[in-house]
Amino acid sequence: KKVYLNGDILEPESAKISVFDRGFLFGDGIYEVMAQINGHFFYEKAHIKRLEDGLRKINIEFSTSLLRTEIPKILKASDLVDKDCLLYIQVTRGVAPRQHAYPKDIQPTFMMYATPKILPEINSIKATVVTSEDFRWSRCDIKMISLLGNVMANEYAIQKKCFENVLIRNGVVTEASHCNVFFVKNSVVYTHPADTYILDGITRQIVLELCVKLGIEVREVGVTEEDMLEMDEAFLTGTSTQIASIQQWDDYFFYHDNEVGEITQKLQLAFRNLKY
Ligand code: PDD
Repeated sequence: KKVYLNGDILEPESAKISVFDRGFLFGDGIYEVMAQINGHFFYEKAHIKRLEDGLRKINIEFSTSLLRTEIPKILKASDLVDKDCLLYIQVTRGVAPRQHAYPKDIQPTFMMYATPKILPEINSIKATVVTSEDFRWSRCDIKMISLLGNVMANEYAIQKKCFENVLIRNGVVTEASHCNVFFVKNSVVYTHPADTYILDGITRQIVLELCVKLGIEVREVGVTEEDMLEMDEAFLTGTSTQIASIQQWDDYFFYHDNEVGEITQKLQLAFRNLKY
């Protein structure tokens, strides 16, 4: 495994950053995760646009045009050219004496690595979920590297032997620790609007487009905790999760014998057949 750091390809143990890097001190940085499938990054443009948007929101000056020349270098060094893998990209504000305010004229720290990853067969993840209070901050639209809220939420799911933890803010389902959440009721698809309380997932955007294409009605409105268990179907979306049917929700079972809801199945099929 190799690491790309500020233009160099390094062994992981040689890839070192200063303890005064603001990513280390403040969690002051943005990241992206993209999947390479059959030799192409899945919705690469959308991922890069989200990275640019995140950097702009926190005023980090970094030209994503660098990615065009640098991504091939890390793939080649990792022996993953054209191979299925996940690429992690991180840009932090850079190194400066510790002061909260953004320092002027510093170089961002740019890091990437790729890991081989065969994505699961599309229908294969059958998720069980727990729920908990969404106590994260209120700018979850920013894909920042300070993920402690998400890490704590995910750890709770793992302790409960579940795949995900679905988060509830003021009685409304927002998203999960590393996935977006969708519901289906009477053939209408529901998901939280892409405001500042969720990360607008690329997979989420694709699913919304697929609904339009398939003539499935969608409402971008948050589902309340009370309405949650009245839903016919529920599923999770994310880059490595793709579209995963939720089978069990706390103590409530959507299905008993590994069934998958009709609309969820339709979307999974359309997702698998996507040309990109
Ligand atoms: N997780 N919501 C949160 C909080 C996420 O961290 C993610 C992605 C998503 C789904 O976004 P997308 O469809 O663009 O992957 C939603 C990434 C992959 C991660 O942190 O590993």
